[in-house]
Amino acid sequence: MAQLVFLLISCLQTFYTTCQANEQASLKFVGIGDWGGLPIYPYYTPHEFDTANELGRIAESTGLDFVLSLGDHFYFSGVRDVDDTRFKSTYESVFSHPALMAVPWYLVAGNHDHRGNISAQIAYSNRSERWIYPDLYYQLSFKVPHSNTSITVLMIDTVVLCGNTYDGLEPVGPENYAAAKQHLKWIEKKLQNTKSDFVIVAGHYPVWSIGHHGPTKCLISELRPLLKKYSVSLYLSGHDHSLQFIREDDGSSYVVSGTGINADIYTDHKNSFPSSWQLFSNAVNQTTGAFVYFEVSTSEMLINYIQEDGKCVFQTSVPKRNVRLLTSL
Ligand SMILES: *[C@@H]1O[C@H](CO)[C@@H](O)[C@H](O)[C@H]1NC(C)=O
Ligand SMILES: *[C@@H]1O[C@H](CO)[C@@H](O)[C@H](O)[C@H]1NC(C)=O
Ligand SMILES: *[C@@H]1O[C@H](CO)[C@@H](O)[C@H](O)[C@H]1NC(C)=O
Ligand SMILES: *[C@@H]1O[C@H](CO)[C@@H](O)[C@H](O)[C@H]1NC(C)=O
Repeated sequence: MAQLVFLLISCLQTFYTTCQANEQASLKFVGIGDWGGLPIYPYYTPHEFDTANELGRIAESTGLDFVLSLGDHFYFSGVRDVDDTRFKSTYESVFSHPALMAVPWYLVAGNHDHRGNISAQIAYSNRSERWIYPDLYYQLSFKVPHSNTSITVLMIDTVVLCGNTYDGLEPVGPENYAAAKQHLKWIEKKLQNTKSDFVIVAGHYPVWSIGHHGPTKCLISELRPLLKKYSVSLYLSGHDHSLQFIREDDGSSYVVSGTGINADIYTDHKNSFPSSWQLFSNAVNQTTGAFVYFEVSTSEMLINYIQEDGKCVFQTSVPKRNVRLLTSL
């Protein structure tokens, strides 16, 4: 027992080595992408395994209300049908820490998921208590506990918006232009209508990234203007297998959290946008990475960048939106 308590305390100490704890009641969640294992035995990578264990430790020691899963759940070509064994071998048996069993996962698809059967990933919501994927895109609403502080999350499908990628670089453009336009309209309408204190838009492709794939031109032209117009608190993505924090001069913020399968060190696109916006990346700052842990209180959203060994390697925050200003739009 004493050992267990000691273990728990040392976990907390590790977690807060470099990041300050949030003392207030908060809504706690993780953004994680690109954890989709491999299509060969044992169907997961050592990094995915360690990341899953750390996620479990965080759920156990500090609490976790939900997970936002940012796509590329099954490398390299998604799943075949709802009975595909990859649901078990790449997801259920890896993210199997007891503390994760009651934590809901809200999902959006990545390019690799779209190469397989997306309907099957949606249908799997009926097979698992914690896998919640109602549609290609959807809205989530939360409150900070014991408060009226509200959080809206738009889960969007960037492959519907921008198309798939086949050469590993830019998406080729939407497969169905009408569907892309309809999705964009849906995003704008939701942003127009929300008065939430915090608004997160979450999808697979990044707007900005210094990594291997780099920025997504289609999102820069189609989505970024909406994020700014409606003062979105942050855009959250995966795709590049790195952790990054990017903040433009006007305060618009971008989190890349795509280190589920591995943390790479590519900086190929470092010169594609101002370096003054590049506030953290695991590649430049020589850390590894597992996922990003958010704590939303009544005053701010704390953003913690966590390695697979539990160390918090970067922390920043995003303020509440000025809702009064927004309603005058
Ligand atoms: C996709 O998966 C669903 C659910 O298992 C199945 O009904 C459907 O036939 C699959 N589609 C294809 C093209 O295999
Ligand atoms: C889940 O099951 C219900 C009841 O059988 C069915 O109506 C619904 O279409 C299923 N949902 C999916 C996503 O397969
Ligand atoms: C939330 O708002 C309602 C209605 O304005 C108010 O009655 C309630 O006291 C508020 N709750 C908290 C915890 O602030
Ligand atoms: C990341 O590295 C850059 C370049 O060395 C440095 O300027 C910056 O302060 C570092 N940021 C963090 C959060 O460590």
